[in-house]
Amino acid sequence: MADLNPRLAVYPGTFDPLTMGHVSLIRRGLKVFDQVILAIAESTPKKTLFTIGERVALAKEVFRDDTNIIVDSFDSLLIDYVAEKGAGSVLRGLRAVSDFEYEFQMALMNRKLDREIQTVFMITDFKWMYLSSTIVKEVAMYGGDICGLVPGPVVKALHIRYGTGYGCGDKHGQHGDD
Ligand code: COA
Repeated sequence: MADLNPRLAVYPGTFDPLTMGHVSLIRRGLKVFDQVILAIAESTPKKTLFTIGERVALAKEVFRDDTNIIVDSFDSLLIDYVAEKGAGSVLRGLRAVSDFEYEFQMALMNRKLDREIQTVFMITDFKWMYLSSTIVKEVAMYGGDICGLVPGPVVKALHIRYGTGYGCGDKHGQHGDD
């Protein structure tokens, strides 16, 4: 078996699109790991709004100045991808108790498939607990204010995709991440 780097983690997900919850989690992951690969799943049971190319391009733009975050895509069993990258861990975020059952099942299945790779959970920051990609898309679809909930390039991409549009700061008041 190839050597796995314990300081390298893979943070997998659909990221359709990337939210500030994901950004916060990967940055906190970097306090534990030297490098994190943001691995975007190409095929997923979810019908995605953005293509794999678009999701990768958005994430690359968001993390363009972060040398310790590598954006990549994968289209295989997660655990095979992680082993191929030589990463020792899978990083996942937990928002609420409702996430637990699904995450527990996935972590155990991944452990069954490869016992050398560990799943590491971090609790999502309190201020992003309510956030999901689906809820952001729904708000954006009806022209609601998503500023501060997703990175700037994602705000723009969502408004273009839904044909809605206004700049951040001119509707509904609440902005920023406080
Ligand atoms: N803050 C805010 N929201 C968060 C979050 C955080 N820290 N972490 C997750 N979420 C949200 C996401 O926005 C997403 O919301 P949505 O369902 O409304 O889109 C949801 O929680 C979970 O999404 P995500 O973290 O992207 O994970 P996922 O469930 O879409 O990804 C894979 C699952 C891709 C990791 C999994 O299917 C996989 O490994 N696939 C590869 C094939 C495989 O190996 N299968 C067997 C697995 S045992």
